Amino acid sequence: TNLMVSSAASPPCPSVALTQDDLKKIAAYKAVEHVKSGMVLGLGTGSTAKHAVDRIAHLIQQGTLKDIIGIPTSTQTHEQALSLNIPLSDLDSHPVIDLAIDGADEVDPELNLVKGRGGSLLREKMIESASKKFIVIVDESKMVKHIGASRLAMPVEVIPFCWNHSLRRLVDLFTDSGCVGELRKCAGNGEAYVTDNGNYIIDLYFERDIGDLNEASDAILRLPGIVEHGMFIGLASSVIVAGVDGVTVKTK
Ligand code: 5RP
Repeated sequence: TNLMVSSAASPPCPSVALTQDDLKKIAAYKAVEHVKSGMVLGLGTGSTAKHAVDRIAHLIQQGTLKDIIGIPTSTQTHEQALSLNIPLSDLDSHPVIDLAIDGADEVDPELNLVKGRGGSLLREKMIESASKKFIVIVDESKMVKHIGASRLAMPVEVIPFCWNHSLRRLVDLFTDSGCVGELRKCAGNGEAYVTDNGNYIIDLYFERDIGDLNEASDAILRLPGIVEHGMFIGLASSVIVAGVDGVTVKTK
């Protein structure tokens, strides 16, 4: 039977079969051990980061953490943190963040990431690149040999104007890598998915390695109409990986 883990107060006990969500929670709780009173925190987005936000709120309620200020990376996390009474601010008022904690979709051996399958890559990158320390929390399924190697999406945020043109220009950059792209749609109504910033997302898929990540990043960002991409190169300070055999911390 799978362990039921429902409270932000109790970390999962590793002696029983753990679900993927338990692993996410274990990684999240481990990262929150680095949070100290008085910190300005970047609050990540997604099912893993959600556990970290729950845990931070619990420690604030308990009185263990004091004078915390949270900077949410999405409207979704903003709403979660607000409902849990975490004091919130933004980058305009707090341009330097002590610690950001967030999940990722892929992590390579150099701790480069793909993020944004949850759609929040732009705010995440703004906040995490303004953080003195950025701890990534993942279950072991997110570890890959090369970015793009999972054959899952690498998201790119684009302005809605002539998005089809932007899609073609993005795909043209990576013809050698067997790239295809598609506009992200909402699951329910099939309409274009709109980000917190009013933009669209093009999901790129690669058949082969995309080569040098910095070159790929520069080429994408040079295209007019592109806002940001989901490769987080050199931004992570450490990655906490929770697996069925235990927790590993990878540091640069
Ligand atoms: C959202 C993200 C998430 O961190 C990423 O998608 C991982 O999500 P999850 O923790 O639900 O697996 O980048 O934009």
